[in-house]
Amino acid sequence: MHDLKTHIEQVLSALKKELLSAQSTADLEQIRVTYLGRQGQIAALMAQLKELSTEDKKTFGPLLNEFKKSAEELYEKTKKTVEQLQSDQDRAKKHAFDVTAYKRPALQGSLHLFTHIIEHLEDIFISMGYEIATGPEVVTDYYNFEALNIPSDHPARELQDTFWLTNPNYLLRTHTSSVQIQAMESKSVPLAIFAPGRVYRNEATDATHDFMFMQGEGLFIDKNVSVSHLLATAKAFLRAYFEKYDLEIRARPGYFPFVEPGIEIDASCPFCKTGCSICKYTRWIELMGSGMVHPNVLRASGINPEIYSGFAWGFGLERLAMVKYGVNDIRLFRSGKIDFLKQF
Ligand code: PHE
Repeated sequence: MHDLKTHIEQVLSALKKELLSAQSTADLEQIRVTYLGRQGQIAALMAQLKELSTEDKKTFGPLLNEFKKSAEELYEKTKKTVEQLQSDQDRAKKHAFDVTAYKRPALQGSLHLFTHIIEHLEDIFISMGYEIATGPEVVTDYYNFEALNIPSDHPARELQDTFWLTNPNYLLRTHTSSVQIQAMESKSVPLAIFAPGRVYRNEATDATHDFMFMQGEGLFIDKNVSVSHLLATAKAFLRAYFEKYDLEIRARPGYFPFVEPGIEIDASCPFCKTGCSICKYTRWIELMGSGMVHPNVLRASGINPEIYSGFAWGFGLERLAMVKYGVNDIRLFRSGKIDFLKQF
């Protein structure tokens, strides 16, 4: 029986030694399984107890129980210390974390599709000898309507829902045609200008309408200018814009008070020969309003219509972009959706 006593002492001293060198909760778990677990060394000692004589049981029973209790206490005590140590270490690690050490790569920005399109269009018109013109977005009634042959009682005013400012007589321009007047006042004839810019209309938005959008306006004035100059210019610019050199145009009568005759220009569908969803199976796409500058408009800007004539056109930039890039909702352009914008 001396053996059993020595064995208990051996197990206890081994356990103490291992607990002293335990560093982590994982080490502790290992120790728990080896000594205190159901198949552990203490359980094995307990099993031996059964085989002892009643006499010996009396001696070793309490001894073993005592041993088991102190082993468990020792284990719990060490466990607390190790856990405390580990949480201190974790905290220290977090404090030492250098947030500047891992730098995300910088996001790369790009130009908005409209910027690309405007630059492309400006290149096209500059190559044809045009000047780029701009004008204010807040204008008086005179520049948006009156000087464009739309007097205050003219029904055509109803065609464009206007944002009027509280300051009487001022409005957000409803079209870039206001730049026509500003250009004629500030430059001398002959003149050729291209004016891209923002315009505003007080109307509900949907997939093809926005209350703010962009237009591109052209004005050409010289002696002996005719409709054929207008059509040739429109064809040349649309071919260059769509990069389709077999593109054709067709002219339909249209009404705008500031031109006479007024002409709607359609382009042959740049994407098909027989009809597709973009041209709604008509093979033609409506693109711009145009016409020969009305004599009243020339006169209002001090240009003699007996000597000079000219043509003008205006298109919606969003429409040109939607057709060329297959975008089906005008609102996407200003939605700020990076995934959409990144594509261009
Ligand atoms: N300003 C017209 C519009 O906004 C377009 C246009 C411009 C028509 C120039 C003829 C000449 O609809």
